[in-house]
Amino acid sequence: MYNTPFHSQPLDQTTFLVTGGAGFIGSNLVEYLLKYGAKKVRTFDNYSNGFRKNLALFAGHPALEVVEGDIRDAAACAAACAGIDVVLHQAALGSVPRSIKDPVLTNDVNVGGFVQMLTAAKDAGVRRFVYAASSSTYGDHPGLPKIEDRIGKPLSPYAVTKYANELYADVFARTYGLEIIGLRYFNIFGPRQDPGGAYAAVIPLFIDALLQNQAPTLNGDGGQTRDFTFIENCVQANIRAALVTDPAAVNQVYNIAVGDRTSLVQMYDVLREEAGSALAPKFGPDRAGDIRDSLADISKAGTLLGYAPQIRIREGLQQTLAWFKENQAFIAQR
Ligand SMILES: NC(=O)c1ccc[n+]([C@@H]2O[C@H](COP(=O)([O-])OP(=O)(O)OC[C@H]3O[C@@H](n4cnc5c(N)ncnc54)[C@H](O)[C@@H]3O)[C@@H](O)[C@H]2O)c1
Repeated sequence: MYNTPFHSQPLDQTTFLVTGGAGFIGSNLVEYLLKYGAKKVRTFDNYSNGFRKNLALFAGHPALEVVEGDIRDAAACAAACAGIDVVLHQAALGSVPRSIKDPVLTNDVNVGGFVQMLTAAKDAGVRRFVYAASSSTYGDHPGLPKIEDRIGKPLSPYAVTKYANELYADVFARTYGLEIIGLRYFNIFGPRQDPGGAYAAVIPLFIDALLQNQAPTLNGDGGQTRDFTFIENCVQANIRAALVTDPAAVNQVYNIAVGDRTSLVQMYDVLREEAGSALAPKFGPDRAGDIRDSLADISKAGTLLGYAPQIRIREGLQQTLAWFKENQAFIAQR
């Protein structure tokens, strides 16, 4: 992966902090930054949902510094931000159902931890703060495709936390002059996404089921649509947001997706075809807090960040399936 760089300037003078670096998206950002010679890549993670194994892959790399800590801990955030030029903030508790089960914990980490990180970044003189926002912020707005400034009411505690992040980011940019960019991810998938646990995302769950020759369960009728986005596109967006110099591009939020709409049934059919399986899916009840349809307008990120997704859903699913097949022992490690 990452055989083509998304940047033209060298990274060897820039220090990066990746919060949530042991997670799915964070560890892919670490992979890219180390591959292209970043001066320093520090990770900051409490391993609540991420894995040491994801960072062990890069053990011994001279630019990697692994820090264990919690984004709710002010002193730990301050230490993590010391000497850092760019923060790529990924640490959070993902999952709509988790937030419905435990809204207090999701709020503590996703809002309390976010404000701690913004404060630490501001106090440490960090140049750029890029953070993981979410398409869940569109909530009940019926419009398709989704355009950044047309949002509805959040449909879950998780969505509230991600919208609160955007409000805090805007206030910190205006009040303290911190350069901040929010990336509203739309269903990111790819290698190292965890298929385990109660709150796994749909694509790793389906792949895992197929590889075990078991029919996966689709929530609802499977007609819900998503703008499934391969991880390489998400990494591209982060790198562009970290390095963009146009002042108009800063202190903004962007949709990060592909601009394609695929139903769960269509996505499963691609996986089934690629895996050579005839297994029909099972259908379960609808999930609370989920939106029915999602599709992004990605023109703002294209215009201001130069973001241009390279990998569409079929190729992304092929690469992800191949990775899951080749890494069964790695995936089984908890
Ligand atoms: N994967 C997606 O489709 C998607 C979509 C929209 C937004 N996002 C956001 O992107 C970010 C990364 O998501 P991901 O899919 O890589 O999830 P992930 O669970 O794999 O990674 C999150 C990481 O944050 C760490 N973390 C959690 N709480 C922490 C705390 N209190 N202190 C320090 N570290 C903590 C976890 O241990 C984990 O390593 C999250 O902010 C998520 O909300 C993801």
